[in-house]
Amino acid sequence: MSKPDILQVGPYPEWDQIPLQESFHMHKLFEASDAGAFLSSVGESVRGIATRGELGADRAMIEACPNVEVISVYGVGFDAVDLQVCRERNIRVTNTPDVLTNDVADLGVAMMLAQSRGLVGAETWVRDGSWVEKGLYPLKSRVWGKKAGILGLGRIGFEVGKRLAGFDLDIAYSDIGPKEYAADWTFVPDAVELARHSDFLFVTLAASAETRHIVNSQVIEAIGPQGMVINISRASNIDENALLDALENGRLGAAALDVFEGEPALNPRFLELNNVLLQPHHASGTVETRKAMGKLVRDNLKAHFDGRELLTPVL
Ligand code: 8YV
Repeated sequence: MSKPDILQVGPYPEWDQIPLQESFHMHKLFEASDAGAFLSSVGESVRGIATRGELGADRAMIEACPNVEVISVYGVGFDAVDLQVCRERNIRVTNTPDVLTNDVADLGVAMMLAQSRGLVGAETWVRDGSWVEKGLYPLKSRVWGKKAGILGLGRIGFEVGKRLAGFDLDIAYSDIGPKEYAADWTFVPDAVELARHSDFLFVTLAASAETRHIVNSQVIEAIGPQGMVINISRASNIDENALLDALENGRLGAAALDVFEGEPALNPRFLELNNVLLQPHHASGTVETRKAMGKLVRDNLKAHFDGRELLTPVL
């Protein structure tokens, strides 16, 4: 039997690429110099799309593949996949939940600690001789015992909270309703109220049209000049211009960000700021987790083409 044709939107590590190629006929869109011409030439044959969370599959890409049956996302976030066109055409969609939850939570907490204690600057202080020439590193801000707000208490938000409890942080959260699995934490329905309560505001919401810019200028100003926002979800959850304005004029103390509008080409205003920690969208980026994500991408594709139930369906 011939291998199903799969459009591959972005690169995967070799340990995923090789087994994918054993089971499927992969068409690498990211290697094409002219994406439109490439899609016109292979689109008709494509029965599946393998993509990444941040790359997704937009309407134009899906429409260029009139016979596509399934889209397998390497990532928990599927906000970049046009679900409406998938529903219209009965295209199945899968993602990679659970396997990345703990690593994403780890990075969020690491970012909070690193930014509060000035780890990046402290490393430079040692390496560039400042320690010898100037003496003690400037004092930084304590983490333990402060107040944390978690905006979106899904799987990742919950794991962030579990870790923060270990730092004796007072934890509150917002979501569409209180969660029975978070009985020890305070439910605060309103995002501005949550921000007002928080020294550290973690953004852990699944992104959608409804959550776009949920962290707006009011929320940002409620976090305040001593507070920090940590984003390990999607850039679209924060009004990035309002965030930059507040960081520039000191109405927000600090930010620790793993995601950016238009990434990897982030707004150059970020590069001028010393109150931000900038990370290259790698919260799920451990060998162990990425292997598990890659396996789930393949297993979902195989399940679909073998006529078995999808392991982690979105649609
Ligand atoms: C990945 C992600 O970094 O899970 C997601 O939604 O954005 C991340 O885990 C990304 O999908 C890898 O390309």
